[in-house]
Amino acid sequence: MTRRTRVVTAAASALCALSLLAAVPASAGEPDLGTVGAGDPYFPLSGNPGYDVRHYDLDLDFTPANHELAAEATVSATAGERLARLGLDYSGPPVESVLVDGRPARYERSGQKLTVLPAHPIGRGAEFTVRVRYRGTPERISDAVLGDYGWLNTDDGAVALNEPDGARTWYPVNDDLRDKATYTFHLTTPNGVRALANGEPQGEPRTHGDRTTVTWEMREPMASYLSMVAIGRFTVTRDDAGGLPNITAYDPAGADDSLLHRTTAEALAWQTERFGRYPFDSTGGIIDRVGVGYALETQSRPVYDGAPDELTVVHEVAHQWFGDSVTPETWRDIWLNEGFATYVEWLWQEDHGGPTVQETFDGYYATPAGDPFWQLRTGDPGHDEIFNYDVVYVRGAMTLQALRNAVGDQDFATLLREWPRAHRHGNASTCDLLRLAEEISHRQLGPLFDAWLYTAAKPGPVA
Ligand code: ARG
Ligand code: ZN
Repeated sequence: MTRRTRVVTAAASALCALSLLAAVPASAGEPDLGTVGAGDPYFPLSGNPGYDVRHYDLDLDFTPANHELAAEATVSATAGERLARLGLDYSGPPVESVLVDGRPARYERSGQKLTVLPAHPIGRGAEFTVRVRYRGTPERISDAVLGDYGWLNTDDGAVALNEPDGARTWYPVNDDLRDKATYTFHLTTPNGVRALANGEPQGEPRTHGDRTTVTWEMREPMASYLSMVAIGRFTVTRDDAGGLPNITAYDPAGADDSLLHRTTAEALAWQTERFGRYPFDSTGGIIDRVGVGYALETQSRPVYDGAPDELTVVHEVAHQWFGDSVTPETWRDIWLNEGFATYVEWLWQEDHGGPTVQETFDGYYATPAGDPFWQLRTGDPGHDEIFNYDVVYVRGAMTLQALRNAVGDQDFATLLREWPRAHRHGNASTCDLLRLAEEISHRQLGPLFDAWLYTAAKPGPVA
């Protein structure tokens, strides 16, 4: 399910036209599929031209004792052009076989790509499947600046946390933010080991000898960086939160999930009032001792590295609207995820007897102009700084407060509902936000966006 950037309307500012131009994906041409990506400015190798994935069926059999994964991944896609070969992002364990539409296909691995050569070219517009069998111990990505992510083996199992480009460590994927797809997970483990994923369990666990298989389904479109499995010893709590299953789990060797379970339900109700209908069919969260030092907004069911505090839960639940349902078109727009989620924390505090959003804003705004806090550009922080707390999270949230001050409380409240409604289960850019904010407020907001997002300096008080 790919969405391409739309043509800029005449009303959009020069800034918008500029940022869109740079975001246009690399042309497919006669690509060397081992090296070409989908044109993301920060992750140029990720993603693959020529096809659109509709569904991933991931059959994963995992043994915690030796961390071995035996897997069969079936990628169902539609060809956008005639395909004599096609690329997938894949950095996982050794491949045993590849089938295209059930027939053996040749394949090559190079760098982060698995290139598949079907016996016969796939026709333009054809629906096809690629089934990859692989086996071995998947390995995490340990990046000096982005930290640890991808498939993370734990004492008693494993957790997969992919943001930004870690999905390829455990399945072959078109790792493009714009190619959302639905997912089915069949997770097989030794009896007594629990396995969870995004979405909802389908049917009862099936035991066959000394192993058990559970199936989970994510029925709404999901970007690959939000896909998740968690395997290990877990205590699972399931009940109802406003008509949705609220499924939380925690490792019994650590802190329990009572605050997580309760806060998830509260935050979901509180946010639904403000941002409109919750985009998925279930909610919840998973607490495990993963050791990465961050929580992740994995779709419908975030993962917390240890017991979270209330604001962290509010943040990850907010991402379900801002990031998961409405996903940036490129990683350069990461502030659309983190700025909104941080802003929602500030709103929650304001509404729960804490400082007002304006007070929180003022506190940060007092940071002297010469401070590194103002150094980078929030709307284009650079590959190494996508998780920079000051630049992306805090200044992202400040940008939204500056916008609220410019358009007024009422139009801003409309924007907070309209944004997730207009781009539900899709992708959007900063340019789309500017356009929507201008439409709602009948004001020219280009200069404000420019000062707050595209200038590496403290904005003046009126900007
Ligand atoms: N999106 C996550 C959050 O805001 C942070 C993810 C950090 N990921 C990483 N690879 N360091 O909660
Ligand atoms: Zn976040």
